[in-house]
Amino acid sequence: MTKKIAVLPGDGIGPEIVAEAVKVLECLNAEMNLGLVFENGLIGGAAYDVHGTPFPQQTLDLAKEADAVLLGAVGGPKWESLDISVRPEKGLLGIRSELQLFSNLRPAILYPQLADASTLKPEVVAGLDIMIVRELTGGIYFGQPRGIRMLENGERQGFNTLVYSESEIRRIAHSAFRIAQKRNRRLCSVDKANVLECTELWREVVTEVGKDYPDVALSHMYVDNAAMQLVRAPKQFDVLVTTNMFGDILSDAASMLTGSIGMLPSASLDANGKGMYEPIHGSAPDIAGKGIANPLATILSAGMMLRYTFNQAEAADRIEKAVNAALDAKVRTADIYSEGMTKVSTAQMGDAVVSALRAGA
Ligand code: IPM
Ligand code: MG
Repeated sequence: MTKKIAVLPGDGIGPEIVAEAVKVLECLNAEMNLGLVFENGLIGGAAYDVHGTPFPQQTLDLAKEADAVLLGAVGGPKWESLDISVRPEKGLLGIRSELQLFSNLRPAILYPQLADASTLKPEVVAGLDIMIVRELTGGIYFGQPRGIRMLENGERQGFNTLVYSESEIRRIAHSAFRIAQKRNRRLCSVDKANVLECTELWREVVTEVGKDYPDVALSHMYVDNAAMQLVRAPKQFDVLVTTNMFGDILSDAASMLTGSIGMLPSASLDANGKGMYEPIHGSAPDIAGKGIANPLATILSAGMMLRYTFNQAEAADRIEKAVNAALDAKVRTADIYSEGMTKVSTAQMGDAVVSALRAGA
Protein backbone atom coordinates (compact mmCIF):
# COMPACT_ATOMS: atom_id res chain seq x y z
CA MET A 1 0.00 0.00 0.00
CA THR A 2 1.35 3.40 -0.89
CA LYS A 3 1.75 6.11 1.68
CA LYS A 4 1.44 9.61 0.40
CA ILE A 5 3.56 12.42 1.80
CA ALA A 6 2.58 16.00 1.04
CA VAL A 7 5.86 17.90 0.73
CA LEU A 8 5.55 21.63 1.48
CA PRO A 9 9.00 23.24 1.32
CA GLY A 10 7.79 26.79 1.97
CA ASP A 11 10.17 29.74 2.07
CA GLY A 12 13.76 30.73 2.79
CA ILE A 13 15.91 27.70 3.56
CA GLY A 14 12.76 25.52 3.46
CA PRO A 15 13.34 24.10 -0.04
CA GLU A 16 17.02 23.35 0.66
CA ILE A 17 16.47 21.45 3.88
CA VAL A 18 13.36 19.62 2.69
CA ALA A 19 15.24 18.37 -0.38
CA GLU A 20 17.74 16.66 1.93
CA ALA A 21 15.02 15.05 4.04
CA VAL A 22 13.33 13.75 0.89
CA LYS A 23 16.69 12.40 -0.29
CA VAL A 24 17.01 10.45 2.97
CA LEU A 25 13.41 9.17 2.80
CA GLU A 26 13.91 8.11 -0.83
CA CYS A 27 16.99 6.14 0.10
CA LEU A 28 15.09 4.25 2.81
CA ASN A 29 12.08 3.89 0.54
CA ALA A 30 14.20 2.08 -2.03
CA GLU A 31 16.03 -0.07 0.51
CA MET A 32 13.05 -1.04 2.65
CA ASN A 33 10.12 -0.87 0.21
CA LEU A 34 8.24 1.57 2.39
CA GLY A 35 5.80 2.50 -0.39
CA LEU A 36 6.28 6.22 0.12
CA VAL A 37 5.13 8.57 -2.65
CA PHE A 38 5.73 12.30 -2.62
CA GLU A 39 3.65 15.19 -3.89
CA ASN A 40 4.78 18.80 -3.64
CA GLY A 41 2.61 21.75 -2.69
CA LEU A 42 2.93 25.45 -1.92
CA ILE A 43 2.61 27.12 1.46
CA GLY A 44 3.64 30.43 3.01
CA GLY A 45 5.15 33.21 0.93
CA ALA A 46 5.80 30.81 -1.94
CA ALA A 47 2.04 30.15 -2.11
CA TYR A 48 1.18 33.82 -1.72
CA ASP A 49 3.34 34.72 -4.71
CA VAL A 50 1.43 32.30 -6.94
CA HIS A 51 -2.10 32.26 -5.48
CA GLY A 52 -2.34 35.45 -3.41
CA THR A 53 -2.86 33.40 -0.26
CA PRO A 54 -0.36 31.61 2.02
CA PHE A 55 -2.64 28.57 2.33
CA PRO A 56 -4.38 27.82 -0.96
CA GLN A 57 -7.25 25.35 -1.25
CA GLN A 58 -5.07 23.00 -3.35
CA THR A 59 -2.61 22.75 -0.48
CA LEU A 60 -5.35 22.05 2.03
CA ASP A 61 -6.77 19.33 -0.26
CA LEU A 62 -3.33 17.81 -0.76
CA ALA A 63 -2.59 17.84 2.99
CA LYS A 64 -5.96 16.29 3.80
CA GLU A 65 -5.67 13.42 1.36
CA ALA A 66 -2.02 12.74 2.21
CA ASP A 67 -1.09 10.38 5.04
CA ALA A 68 1.50 12.81 6.39
CA VAL A 69 2.92 16.25 5.66
CA LEU A 70 6.59 17.22 5.52
CA LEU A 71 7.07 20.96 5.88
CA GLY A 72 10.13 23.20 5.67
CA ALA A 73 9.59 26.70 7.01
CA VAL A 74 7.62 29.83 6.14
CA GLY A 75 8.16 33.58 6.14
CA GLY A 76 10.69 36.19 5.17
CA PRO A 77 11.24 39.93 4.78
CA LYS A 78 9.66 39.89 1.33
CA TRP A 79 6.23 39.33 2.86
CA GLU A 80 6.58 41.18 6.17
CA SER A 81 4.69 44.27 5.04
CA LEU A 82 1.65 42.28 3.90
CA ASP A 83 -1.54 42.40 5.89
CA ILE A 84 -1.29 39.92 8.78
CA SER A 85 -4.20 37.90 7.32
CA VAL A 86 -2.11 36.83 4.30
CA ARG A 87 1.34 36.69 5.83
CA PRO A 88 3.20 33.38 5.36
CA GLU A 89 2.84 32.48 9.06
CA LYS A 90 -0.94 32.36 8.53
CA GLY A 91 -0.38 29.47 6.15
CA LEU A 92 1.40 27.49 8.82
CA LEU A 93 -1.18 28.31 11.48
CA GLY A 94 -3.93 27.51 8.98
CA ILE A 95 -2.68 24.04 8.17
CA ARG A 96 -2.09 23.22 11.84
CA SER A 97 -5.60 24.31 12.64
CA GLU A 98 -7.37 22.76 9.62
CA LEU A 99 -5.75 19.39 10.23
CA GLN A 100 -6.36 19.71 14.01
CA LEU A 101 -2.75 18.99 14.82
CA PHE A 102 -3.12 19.90 18.46
CA SER A 103 -0.23 17.91 19.90
CA ASN A 104 3.19 19.21 18.98
CA LEU A 105 6.13 17.08 20.08
CA ARG A 106 9.47 18.84 20.22
CA PRO A 107 12.23 16.55 21.47
CA ALA A 108 15.48 18.19 22.57
CA ILE A 109 18.26 15.64 22.53
CA LEU A 110 21.93 16.40 22.83
CA TYR A 111 24.02 14.35 20.49
CA PRO A 112 27.21 13.73 22.49
CA GLN A 113 29.27 14.74 19.45
CA LEU A 114 27.81 18.24 19.78
CA ALA A 115 28.42 18.82 23.48
CA ASP A 116 30.93 21.52 22.53
CA ALA A 117 28.49 23.26 20.20
CA SER A 118 26.11 24.18 23.02
CA THR A 119 26.69 27.52 24.67
CA LEU A 120 26.07 25.77 28.00
CA LYS A 121 28.71 23.87 29.93
CA PRO A 122 29.03 20.26 28.72
CA GLU A 123 28.17 18.86 32.17
CA VAL A 124 24.89 20.80 32.18
CA VAL A 125 23.73 19.35 28.86
CA ALA A 126 25.51 15.97 28.62
CA GLY A 127 22.94 13.21 28.11
CA LEU A 128 20.09 15.67 27.70
CA ASP A 129 16.86 14.08 26.44
CA ILE A 130 13.68 16.03 27.05
CA MET A 131 10.37 16.22 25.25
CA ILE A 132 8.35 19.41 25.03
CA VAL A 133 4.67 18.82 24.28
CA ARG A 134 3.23 22.07 22.99
CA GLU A 135 -0.50 22.66 22.52
CA LEU A 136 -0.67 23.79 18.90
CA THR A 137 -4.18 24.72 17.81
CA GLY A 138 -5.49 26.88 20.63
CA GLY A 139 -4.51 29.50 23.15
CA ILE A 140 -3.53 33.05 22.33
CA TYR A 141 -2.46 32.11 18.78
CA PHE A 142 -6.07 31.49 17.81
CA GLY A 143 -8.19 33.19 20.49
CA GLN A 144 -10.89 35.68 19.49
CA PRO A 145 -11.35 38.60 19.61
CA ARG A 146 -8.03 39.83 18.30
CA GLY A 147 -6.82 42.79 16.35
CA ILE A 148 -5.79 46.41 16.52
CA ARG A 149 -8.57 48.86 17.31
CA MET A 150 -8.98 52.60 17.67
CA LEU A 151 -9.80 53.87 21.13
CA GLU A 152 -12.06 56.85 21.74
CA ASN A 153 -9.07 58.95 22.65
CA GLY A 154 -7.65 58.34 19.18
CA GLU A 155 -4.97 55.96 20.38
CA ARG A 156 -4.64 52.50 18.81
CA GLN A 157 -4.82 49.40 20.98
CA GLY A 158 -3.61 45.93 20.12
CA PHE A 159 -5.39 42.96 21.70
CA ASN A 160 -5.33 39.17 21.70
CA THR A 161 -7.24 36.64 23.71
CA LEU A 162 -5.82 33.71 25.67
CA VAL A 163 -8.48 31.01 25.80
CA TYR A 164 -8.50 27.30 26.56
CA SER A 165 -11.57 25.19 26.99
CA GLU A 166 -11.44 22.21 29.34
CA SER A 167 -11.63 19.76 26.45
CA GLU A 168 -8.65 21.37 24.73
CA ILE A 169 -6.60 21.13 27.92
CA ARG A 170 -7.75 17.59 28.58
CA ARG A 171 -6.74 16.23 25.17
CA ILE A 172 -3.24 17.74 25.21
CA ALA A 173 -2.80 16.54 28.80
CA HIS A 174 -3.73 12.98 27.82
CA SER A 175 -1.33 13.17 24.92
CA ALA A 176 1.50 14.35 27.21
CA PHE A 177 0.79 11.76 29.93
CA ARG A 178 0.84 8.95 27.34
CA ILE A 179 4.19 10.17 26.05
CA ALA A 180 5.54 10.37 29.61
CA GLN A 181 4.43 6.77 30.19
CA LYS A 182 6.68 5.68 27.32
CA ARG A 183 9.62 7.66 28.72
CA ASN A 184 10.75 8.26 32.31
CA ARG A 185 7.23 8.86 33.65
CA ARG A 186 7.77 12.42 34.79
CA LEU A 187 5.59 15.21 33.46
CA CYS A 188 5.99 18.90 34.26
CA SER A 189 3.09 21.13 33.27
CA VAL A 190 4.13 24.72 32.62
CA ASP A 191 1.70 27.60 33.17
CA LYS A 192 1.32 31.06 34.63
CA ALA A 193 -1.41 30.11 37.09
CA ASN A 194 -0.36 32.82 39.52
CA VAL A 195 -1.47 35.53 37.08
CA LEU A 196 -3.60 34.12 34.26
CA GLU A 197 -6.99 32.55 35.04
CA CYS A 198 -6.84 30.66 31.78
CA THR A 199 -3.80 28.76 32.98
CA GLU A 200 -5.23 28.39 36.47
CA LEU A 201 -7.85 26.25 34.74
CA TRP A 202 -5.05 24.59 32.76
CA ARG A 203 -3.38 23.51 36.02
CA GLU A 204 -6.66 22.25 37.48
CA VAL A 205 -7.57 20.16 34.43
CA VAL A 206 -4.06 18.73 33.99
CA THR A 207 -4.11 17.69 37.65
CA GLU A 208 -7.49 16.02 37.15
CA VAL A 209 -6.32 14.14 34.06
CA GLY A 210 -3.26 13.07 36.05
CA LYS A 211 -5.48 10.87 38.24
CA ASP A 212 -5.79 8.53 35.24
CA TYR A 213 -2.01 8.16 35.16
CA PRO A 214 -0.89 7.19 38.67
CA ASP A 215 2.36 5.85 37.20
CA VAL A 216 3.41 9.33 36.00
CA ALA A 217 4.80 11.85 38.50
CA LEU A 218 3.15 15.18 37.71
CA SER A 219 4.61 18.53 38.72
CA HIS A 220 3.70 22.13 37.87
CA MET A 221 5.96 25.06 37.18
CA TYR A 222 5.45 28.71 36.30
CA VAL A 223 6.76 29.56 32.87
CA ASP A 224 9.30 32.12 34.05
CA ASN A 225 10.83 29.57 36.39
CA ALA A 226 10.69 26.90 33.67
CA ALA A 227 12.67 29.17 31.32
CA MET A 228 15.28 29.62 34.03
CA GLN A 229 15.40 25.91 34.95
CA LEU A 230 15.82 24.97 31.29
CA VAL A 231 19.12 26.81 31.13
CA ARG A 232 20.13 26.14 34.76
CA ALA A 233 19.51 22.41 35.08
CA PRO A 234 17.66 21.08 32.02
CA LYS A 235 18.18 17.43 32.89
CA GLN A 236 15.65 17.69 35.73
CA PHE A 237 12.96 17.46 33.03
CA ASP A 238 11.58 14.43 31.23
CA VAL A 239 8.38 15.65 29.52
CA LEU A 240 7.07 19.23 29.61
CA VAL A 241 3.54 20.10 28.57
CA THR A 242 2.47 23.66 27.96
CA THR A 243 0.36 26.16 26.05
CA ASN A 244 0.87 27.20 22.46
CA MET A 245 2.82 30.39 23.11
CA PHE A 246 4.83 29.18 26.10
CA GLY A 247 5.76 26.09 24.07
CA ASP A 248 6.89 28.23 21.16
CA ILE A 249 9.24 30.17 23.40
CA LEU A 250 10.51 27.34 25.59
CA SER A 251 11.29 25.11 22.61
CA ASP A 252 13.55 27.73 21.05
CA ALA A 253 15.34 28.05 24.38
CA ALA A 254 15.63 24.26 24.64
CA SER A 255 17.09 24.03 21.15
CA MET A 256 20.17 25.88 22.30
CA LEU A 257 20.85 23.15 24.85
CA THR A 258 21.39 20.82 21.91
CA GLY A 259 23.96 23.02 20.24
CA SER A 260 21.84 24.52 17.51
CA ILE A 261 18.28 25.31 16.59
CA GLY A 262 19.18 23.44 13.41
CA MET A 263 18.96 20.15 15.31
CA LEU A 264 15.39 20.16 16.65
CA PRO A 265 12.69 18.20 14.80
CA SER A 266 9.00 18.19 15.55
CA ALA A 267 5.85 16.20 15.03
CA SER A 268 2.39 17.76 15.10
CA LEU A 269 -0.26 15.11 15.57
CA ASP A 270 -4.03 14.93 15.45
CA ALA A 271 -6.17 12.60 17.56
CA ASN A 272 -5.56 9.71 15.12
CA GLY A 273 -1.81 10.01 14.77
CA LYS A 274 -1.91 11.73 11.39
CA GLY A 275 0.80 14.30 11.42
CA MET A 276 2.81 17.10 10.01
CA TYR A 277 6.55 17.05 10.47
CA GLU A 278 8.77 20.11 10.44
CA PRO A 279 11.95 21.48 11.99
CA ILE A 280 11.22 23.90 14.82
CA HIS A 281 13.43 26.59 13.30
CA GLY A 282 12.28 29.26 10.90
CA SER A 283 13.03 30.07 7.28
CA ALA A 284 16.34 31.84 8.08
CA PRO A 285 16.10 34.29 5.16
CA ASP A 286 19.59 35.60 5.92
CA ILE A 287 21.19 32.33 4.82
CA ALA A 288 18.57 31.18 2.29
CA GLY A 289 19.95 30.00 -1.04
CA LYS A 290 23.50 29.77 0.26
CA GLY A 291 23.44 26.02 0.78
CA ILE A 292 24.75 26.29 4.32
CA ALA A 293 21.64 25.56 6.41
CA ASN A 294 21.60 22.52 8.66
CA PRO A 295 19.16 19.92 7.26
CA LEU A 296 19.37 17.60 10.28
CA ALA A 297 16.27 18.96 12.07
CA THR A 298 14.23 18.25 8.94
CA ILE A 299 15.84 14.86 8.39
CA LEU A 300 15.08 13.96 12.02
CA SER A 301 11.51 15.22 11.48
CA ALA A 302 11.23 12.75 8.61
CA GLY A 303 12.37 10.12 11.10
CA MET A 304 9.59 11.14 13.47
CA MET A 305 7.14 10.75 10.57
CA LEU A 306 8.23 7.15 10.03
CA ARG A 307 7.88 6.48 13.75
CA TYR A 308 4.63 8.24 14.61
CA THR A 309 2.50 8.16 11.47
CA PHE A 310 3.83 5.14 9.60
CA ASN A 311 4.79 2.95 12.56
CA GLN A 312 8.10 2.14 10.92
CA ALA A 313 10.23 2.09 14.04
CA GLU A 314 13.09 0.29 12.34
CA ALA A 315 13.33 2.86 9.55
CA ALA A 316 13.07 5.69 12.10
CA ASP A 317 15.85 4.17 14.19
CA ARG A 318 17.98 3.95 11.07
CA ILE A 319 17.61 7.67 10.40
CA GLU A 320 18.69 8.49 13.93
CA LYS A 321 21.62 6.09 13.69
CA ALA A 322 22.64 7.59 10.36
CA VAL A 323 22.57 11.13 11.78
CA ASN A 324 24.77 9.91 14.61
CA ALA A 325 27.13 8.30 12.12
CA ALA A 326 27.33 11.50 10.07
CA LEU A 327 28.23 13.43 13.22
CA ASP A 328 30.79 10.75 14.12
CA ALA A 329 32.32 11.30 10.69
CA LYS A 330 32.96 14.87 11.89
CA VAL A 331 30.99 16.60 9.14
CA ARG A 332 29.33 19.80 10.37
CA THR A 333 27.22 22.53 8.85
CA ALA A 334 28.27 26.05 9.88
CA ASP A 335 25.86 26.29 12.83
CA ILE A 336 27.40 23.29 14.60
CA TYR A 337 30.94 23.67 13.31
CA SER A 338 33.86 23.60 15.72
CA GLU A 339 37.59 23.30 15.22
CA GLY A 340 38.88 20.03 13.84
CA MET A 341 35.60 19.27 12.06
CA THR A 342 34.89 19.33 8.34
CA LYS A 343 32.56 22.15 7.37
CA VAL A 344 29.98 20.94 4.85
CA SER A 345 27.07 22.31 2.85
CA THR A 346 23.39 21.47 3.30
CA ALA A 347 23.53 18.92 0.47
CA GLN A 348 26.78 17.39 1.71
CA MET A 349 25.22 16.86 5.13
CA GLY A 350 22.26 15.13 3.47
CA ASP A 351 24.71 13.01 1.47
CA ALA A 352 26.58 12.08 4.65
CA VAL A 353 23.35 10.78 6.19
CA VAL A 354 22.53 8.84 3.01
CA SER A 355 26.01 7.31 2.89
CA ALA A 356 25.66 6.25 6.51
CA LEU A 357 22.35 4.56 5.62
CA ARG A 358 23.95 2.81 2.65
CA ALA A 359 26.81 1.71 4.89
CA GLY A 360 24.31 -0.09 7.08
CA ALA A 361 23.05 2.44 9.61
C1 IPM B 1 7.30 27.63 15.35
C2 IPM B 1 7.33 28.97 14.67
C3 IPM B 1 5.91 29.38 14.31
C4 IPM B 1 5.11 29.48 15.60
C5 IPM B 1 5.79 30.67 13.48
C6 IPM B 1 6.61 30.63 12.22
C7 IPM B 1 4.36 31.00 13.15
O1 IPM B 1 7.96 29.90 15.47
O2 IPM B 1 6.83 26.65 14.74
O3 IPM B 1 7.76 27.54 16.49
O4 IPM B 1 5.11 30.52 16.26
O5 IPM B 1 4.47 28.50 15.95
MG1 MG C 1 8.83 29.08 17.21
